Amino acid sequence: MRAFVWTAFVWTIRTAYCYENLSRRPTTKLTQSSTYGSLNADLANDGVLNTIEKYCAHTAISHTKAWLQVDLGKMFSINNVNIFYRNEGNTGWKQYRFRQFYLDISTLRATETTAVQRTRCYTDNTTAPYLPSTTIDIPCKETARYIIV
Ligand SMILES: *[C@@H]1O[C@H](CO)[C@@H](O)[C@H](O)[C@H]1NC(C)=O
Ligand SMILES: *[C@@H]1O[C@H](CO)[C@@H](O)[C@H](O)[C@H]1NC(C)=O
Repeated sequence: MRAFVWTAFVWTIRTAYCYENLSRRPTTKLTQSSTYGSLNADLANDGVLNTIEKYCAHTAISHTKAWLQVDLGKMFSINNVNIFYRNEGNTGWKQYRFRQFYLDISTLRATETTAVQRTRCYTDNTTAPYLPSTTIDIPCKETARYIIV
């Protein structure tokens, strides 16, 4: 793992009868494993989908582990998770740090679990020179409180 650069992170929750956008709930709290400068986790949950660096949550560089966690406050039945990763266009910074990311859901927080104790919804298998997509809609029909990238 390597330092990641997170961007606006939006997830939606759907029940059998209605869909709710949990990214907009005031009780939804974001944290990340470390912070680069002032680019704290809340920037991934502010409704701003601009994906250049200053609008994104960003973990510190040179860490062997990097994660972003969404705490929904209580258990929810999740339908899908949308990720908007840092994207600065064809001439800007490239999303090589996003290679081989994975998305887990869990009933316990990231600091209390290792990946094997969680449920994996997605594994990116991109290797150099290829780059993962920066906008990803991941189906994840599970019940959980924490979403961990
Ligand atoms: C959820 O909220 C975000 C931020 O306001 C918005 O960009 C996104 O389109 C919404 N998603 C849905 C499914 O409503
Ligand atoms: C990545 O590889 C794993 C293991 O082979 C597989 O389960 C997973 O579906 C792959 N991910 C994608 C997005 O294809």
